[in-house]
Amino acid sequence: MAHAPIIRTLGKNGPKIPALGFGLMLIGAPAYGAVPQDKDRSAILDKALELGATFWDTSDLYGDNEELLRQWFQKTGKRDQIFLATKFGYVKGEGGKTMQFQFDTSYEYTKKACQSSLDAMGTDYIDLYYVHQVDNVTPIEETMRALAELQADGKIRHIGLSMVSSTTLRRAIKIAPVAAVQPEYSLFGREIEGPEGTDLLATCRELGVAVVCATPLGRGLLSSDFGSTSSSSSSTAEDGDTTKVDPADLRAKMMPRFLAENRAHNAAVVAKIREFAAEKKGCSVSQLALAWLLKQGDDIFVIPGTRRVRYLEENWATNSVELSDEEEKQLRHSAQTSELAGEALPEQFMDHKFRNTKEIS
Ligand SMILES: NC(=O)c1ccc[n+]([C@@H]2O[C@H](COP(=O)([O-])OP(=O)(O)OC[C@H]3O[C@@H](n4cnc5c(N)ncnc54)[C@H](OP(=O)(O)O)[C@@H]3O)[C@@H](O)[C@H]2O)c1
Repeated sequence: MAHAPIIRTLGKNGPKIPALGFGLMLIGAPAYGAVPQDKDRSAILDKALELGATFWDTSDLYGDNEELLRQWFQKTGKRDQIFLATKFGYVKGEGGKTMQFQFDTSYEYTKKACQSSLDAMGTDYIDLYYVHQVDNVTPIEETMRALAELQADGKIRHIGLSMVSSTTLRRAIKIAPVAAVQPEYSLFGREIEGPEGTDLLATCRELGVAVVCATPLGRGLLSSDFGSTSSSSSSTAEDGDTTKVDPADLRAKMMPRFLAENRAHNAAVVAKIREFAAEKKGCSVSQLALAWLLKQGDDIFVIPGTRRVRYLEENWATNSVELSDEEEKQLRHSAQTSELAGEALPEQFMDHKFRNTKEIS
């Protein structure tokens, strides 16, 4: 059944795009286990286009995602039908191998990274170009100057900031318009609503900046698979065995909520949400979690990630799941009163979420 997409305006007077996007990280980087085979990756992109899920989110960090996109654009000739977001800021090491957790958002690197992404994707413009992570030494004003020039040159159409604080956003917007920020936001990750997340949601609303929710399913926590077996849902086969934990799945190794000692407790919490989904809405827990986010306002966009066509289709069907105000409140209450075991991220990543930059000297 075709689901008419929810279309929303990105930021102040921005383009109208599907509120339900597609996060491409897992079809490029083996973060949660193996990346699918090329024919399956191509099939998932084909399906996203066919459905209308044309707001794609990638990064120069996500394995060979940008090269994959170049091949897909060459094959289909459909670059113009995709609203393409990519990111920069993680420094790549020798031979293009990504070295995580080193950042560079200097003026020079911003320009260089943009050209590399354009070349890698075989396109002459990026619809939405994000700073993925700000570095410790560059004032955001310098990065924004480079981005504003890229925009004036027509290389990027809109500017985005990911994982920044309200202070960084306020400083950035004085240099050039910011269309979107990309923080983590999900039913069990609501920091942006309050001081813990620098009141980022309120700041975005005040400034007319869209919120694109990274990890809207809590990295797979808010899914029918979580906790139903010993699974980390890492098999990539279309109907594959999801009961095996893929040794390459970083979640099972380092994401506290996914560690063996926390799984049973957290599965019981998710089971309550699943019950709500089935009984009240006749939908899946993932659909309910996405619908809950979309209910938060017309400035909210979601980019769930998947390696499977069937999850892509299931997530897209959320376009037809509408929550009442009362249902939204009940779900929020349920999440607020159920404590998950473990944090969403390991300790060493906690300061990556709402970053400030150096003051201008
Ligand atoms: N800005 C940043 O720093 C940042 C950080 C993290 C993520 N992101 C962006 O956010 C996107 C999404 O993040 P994410 O992939 O880490 O987390 P996510 O979207 O919260 O969850 C993805 C996980 O949920 C599973 N899943 C998806 N749909 C499902 C369904 N309908 N039923 C059951 N399971 C389902 C996927 O399984 P399978 O893998 O088995 O398909 C995958 O394991 C990324 O692609 C990236 O674009 C940005």
